[in-house]
Amino acid sequence: MFDLSGKTALVTGSGRGIGLVLARGLAKAGARVVVNDLENDVVDAAVEGLRRDGLRAEGIAFDVTDREAIHAGIDRLEQDVSPLDILINNAGIHRRAPLAEMSADDWRLVIDTNLTSAFLVGQRAARTMIARNRGKIVNICSLNCELPRPSIANYSAAKGGLVLLTRSMTVEWASHNIQANGIAPGYILTEMTRPLSEDRERNAWILGRIPAGRWGKPEDLIGAAVFLSSAASDFINGHVIFADGGMRVSL
Ligand SMILES: NC(=O)c1ccc[n+]([C@@H]2O[C@H](COP(=O)([O-])OP(=O)(O)OC[C@H]3O[C@@H](n4cnc5c(N)ncnc54)[C@H](O)[C@@H]3O)[C@@H](O)[C@H]2O)c1
Repeated sequence: MFDLSGKTALVTGSGRGIGLVLARGLAKAGARVVVNDLENDVVDAAVEGLRRDGLRAEGIAFDVTDREAIHAGIDRLEQDVSPLDILINNAGIHRRAPLAEMSADDWRLVIDTNLTSAFLVGQRAARTMIARNRGKIVNICSLNCELPRPSIANYSAAKGGLVLLTRSMTVEWASHNIQANGIAPGYILTEMTRPLSEDRERNAWILGRIPAGRWGKPEDLIGAAVFLSSAASDFINGHVIFADGGMRVSL
């Protein structure tokens, strides 16, 4: 039920961090994975690493905010490799600033990269999924989709929007046998969160707030990603699975 053999999965922003670990996890579950990131050399290095471990991997560099590049990239991929069965919308960034001082550029960049990207890539991927009457879309949200923190209003708004985009994909595409769901990670140790983990005071606050008493690892998200990409979730639509060590349910 969790076997992804014969499936092709695109993971955006998978040159490093959570995306790369999820790509590896899907590949170990049998999928042929397609690594995406901004730069060719980053993509090539990730693909090489996966292939070295005997996993099936392809690469495709494009900016997830650039509609033309997305269409050109996925057109080529579907022609040369295979149609997409699974899309993981994972690419994301932070630009932190107090709300009263946040620049419009930082607002737009974060909304474009974390939210509009999932609309653009999702829309292109769904075109083929609708024609084939099957597909899986997993949007990587965040605990901040429900619970904001100071200085990340752009990010929280984008991730909150991503939850509603996931539900919109569900109401429009579930009848085409496309299951769209989300994963909302809590605090996961990656390059993105390194500044937080290296700040002693902040790190102590974070650890004190997580009932599980530890930071998450990117590997903690693989199970949910494989589940939501597999036949095991064929009647699961519009959900968001929180993978946060219990932080969301604790006061
Ligand atoms: N790390 C956490 O604690 C955490 C928590 C909740 C949610 N998330 C989400 O998980 C996802 C991955 O986060 P991460 O911690 O691995 O971050 P990361 O910064 O380590 O990796 C993000 C990757 O996305 C790529 N990327 C950025 N902009 C892009 C663009 N325009 N086009 C293509 N690729 C682009 C980056 O180059 C990078 O390789 C993000 O959506 C993030 O918001 C992370």
